[in-house]
Amino acid sequence: MENLLEIKDLRTYFYTEDSVIKAVEGLNLSIKKGEVLGLAGESACGKSITAYSVMNLISPPGKIVKGEVLFQGQDLLKLSQKQMQKIRGKEISIVFQEPVASLNPLYTVGFQIDEMLKTHNKDMNKKSRRKRIIELLENVGIDDAKNRMKDYPHNFSGGQAQRVMVAMSLSCNPKLLIADEPTTSLDVTIQAQIMDLFLKLRQQIDFTLILITHNLALCSEVADRVAIMYSGKIVELADREEIFSNSLHPYTKALFSSIPKGDSNKTKLKVIEGTVPDPADKPLGCHFHPRCPFKDKKCTQAYPGYREVSRNHWVSCYKV
Ligand SMILES: Nc1ncnc2c1ncn2[C@@H]1O[C@H](COP(=O)(O)OP(=O)(O)O)[C@@H](O)[C@H]1O
Ligand SMILES: [Mg+2]
Repeated sequence: MENLLEIKDLRTYFYTEDSVIKAVEGLNLSIKKGEVLGLAGESACGKSITAYSVMNLISPPGKIVKGEVLFQGQDLLKLSQKQMQKIRGKEISIVFQEPVASLNPLYTVGFQIDEMLKTHNKDMNKKSRRKRIIELLENVGIDDAKNRMKDYPHNFSGGQAQRVMVAMSLSCNPKLLIADEPTTSLDVTIQAQIMDLFLKLRQQIDFTLILITHNLALCSEVADRVAIMYSGKIVELADREEIFSNSLHPYTKALFSSIPKGDSNKTKLKVIEGTVPDPADKPLGCHFHPRCPFKDKKCTQAYPGYREVSRNHWVSCYKV
């Protein structure tokens, strides 16, 4: 399968008064056309900053200091803001964690989707845009779309607002959709509905999805491949079945053993000891070594290379 997006040695740092926060530090990741790639990792490991970097949306004190983001072969980091504006929303769309905060409270949802359509599809007239808005809202499961398009964001529940955001993000038929913790702020039952929506849409429309989540269980339901991120880097990547049945990195293993099985209230969570390293003061060597039960001297000295240990299974660990 062809790569739609290739991220090469991406480094995004934040320069604060007294430190450099290395949010993303040498990240390599390819996304194949048509796949759902799950990008998973604990909070603060750099998932959102990766997404913003792909969209070239990093502003001071943040800076993309190195790397390439090749979208259909073109390096997005070399484009001007004006060129990038043509790509955002049209070629690549993003859905954020907080649907209600992502919508403008002052305008109806229909108006906001219409603005997207107007910006990127100059040849659509008012009538065809209206038809498209209704179709989009119906497609994401908003009932009575003809009337609901005249409602304001506060008239929608969190789950419905996220449906509206998904409709908006798909309005211009993007090739790539990045969903950054799209269900994290929602109730558990609503979370499942939004995931079902992504699965349904994926069968209907042709798009590639990067699903960012700290929830591995969620990845297991939707993703074709799963990338595990730790402290600004990908530490393991494999097909979904492979990573679930044969995870190799000690961090991935620990993450999986922390997923509650069956009745989550009764199963005790096995927590990974220690904490994520301070991104302004990462340990030498493998960033996971302070928490790793298998570490030896090598692990404390230099970062392990990222290797393909079996077909399509990549891992960064000396012990594998
Ligand atoms: N504007 C900012 N200024 C300084 N540090 C930031 C900023 N935004 C993010 N960071 C830091 O970058 C790291 C990665 O953040 P983020 O990508 O949001 O994590 P995740 O999405 O995985 O939870 C965190 O340590 C965070 O504190
Ligand atoms: Mg985030």
